[in-house]
Amino acid sequence: MPNTVIIGAQWGDEGKGKVIDIFAPKADYIVRYQGGNNAGHTVVIGKDKFVLHLIPSGILHKGKICVIGNGVVVDPKALLEEIGMLEAKGIKVDGRFFISHQAHIIFPYHRRLDELKEGMKKKIGTTKKGIGPCYSDKVARAGIRVIDLLNSVVFKEKLKNNLKEKNAILAKIYNAEGYSFEALYREYSDYAGKIKKYACDTTLLLNDAIKKSKRILFEGAQGTLLDVDHGTYPFVTSSNATAGGASTGTGVGPTKIDKVIGIVKAYTTRVGEGPFPTEFEQDLLDRIREKGGEFGATTGRPRRCGWFDSVIVKHSVMVNGIDEIVLTKLDVLDGLEVLKICTAYKYEGRIYKNFPSDIKVLSGLEPIYEETPGWKTDTANITSYSKLPRNAKLYLKKIQKLLETRIVLISVGSERRQTFSSE
Ligand code: GDP
Ligand code: IMO
Ligand code: MG
Repeated sequence: MPNTVIIGAQWGDEGKGKVIDIFAPKADYIVRYQGGNNAGHTVVIGKDKFVLHLIPSGILHKGKICVIGNGVVVDPKALLEEIGMLEAKGIKVDGRFFISHQAHIIFPYHRRLDELKEGMKKKIGTTKKGIGPCYSDKVARAGIRVIDLLNSVVFKEKLKNNLKEKNAILAKIYNAEGYSFEALYREYSDYAGKIKKYACDTTLLLNDAIKKSKRILFEGAQGTLLDVDHGTYPFVTSSNATAGGASTGTGVGPTKIDKVIGIVKAYTTRVGEGPFPTEFEQDLLDRIREKGGEFGATTGRPRRCGWFDSVIVKHSVMVNGIDEIVLTKLDVLDGLEVLKICTAYKYEGRIYKNFPSDIKVLSGLEPIYEETPGWKTDTANITSYSKLPRNAKLYLKKIQKLLETRIVLISVGSERRQTFSSE
């Protein structure tokens, strides 16, 4: 397997966890490069269901090396809980899990500021995990990294400086209580002791591995339309969820990355606020949400659902340089009379065939649909492309044509066996 980036091509929750689990046996290293525990990647293995928030989903495969790269923001409490959850299920991480010295640390004041901002009128609908405030500190050059946490002198000074500012903001802007230096210092020094054994220079680790012809699988989190640069700004997350993030978020140069695979859901979902051109009306929403189990893997919030939007996925194909597509959740569309595919947008008499960056356009546009007949047969037990109902094949062909990109794998259920190639 070439060094491959797996990214979400819509608004997240496309089934990246399931696909990583399928590709992991062919890789040596599985690496997260952005986001934090806002992600929720589900892997179903027989009766066991794992939801991974921070540790790469490849950890479920014995012997695979899993890395949290420099571009990730790490909540050490959440990380230790996740390690505990895995170990309780008999999955050992020691010796094959590494975390970048340069990854930034999430503190309780990040979570609190996230919550308080979300309490204001113009909310984003974040996961309230402190992601945005932590990345803000990183860019403002005030963040505390893993390497800083491990040095008590540096940590003490940085935490003191940060608390001075954060406590003033909490008190003066939000009329909220601040944090005590001593309590936070103690709590985080304890985490430092526990994560020390995982921390290293992961940039060197990965580049050395590449020199030895080891194969790297980059596990994207969130999705392209949630990317801080290429998404529906400001209704986005605070990192580069697109394929470019794999390079900046790991220190592996772009020339060392061979392939980008886009994970595309057969319809569209989004969690949180923000424009969603093809969103369903209530009756269809209830039906698809229930059939697709569309409830957030991190927050449990019901996901918004809608028709397949080829305008946004075409945008994804372009900004990620997607080579191939894995199409997931086709089974969820079983039984519908007619399916709609959005092919363009109309706003104030103008037709948009490309993704508009103006949030006003995105929020007020009218989607233009092409209709295609549905299918009655259940697809969840289908094991090869040739056995798919004719109209399901037609649906896939139309999507493939609109995206001008090959669908290589099709997923019809959350289990490993419910996956087959398009040949
Ligand atoms: P991720 O964040 O991209 O990893 O996706 P999530 O795990 O948040 O959400 C995807 C959900 O759909 C999970 O519950 C998966 O088990 C499930 N899933 C993945 N692929 C399929 C599929 O092809 N069909 C169905 N019905 N469920 C799927
Ligand atoms: P995975 O990796 C779906 C959304 C939130 C909110 C916005 C900003 O499982 O696909 P944040 O907490 O990141 O500041 O929230 O981004 N969001 C996700 N939506 N899947 C995710 O991750 C998400 N991570 C964040 O709902 O709209
Ligand atoms: Mg998810």
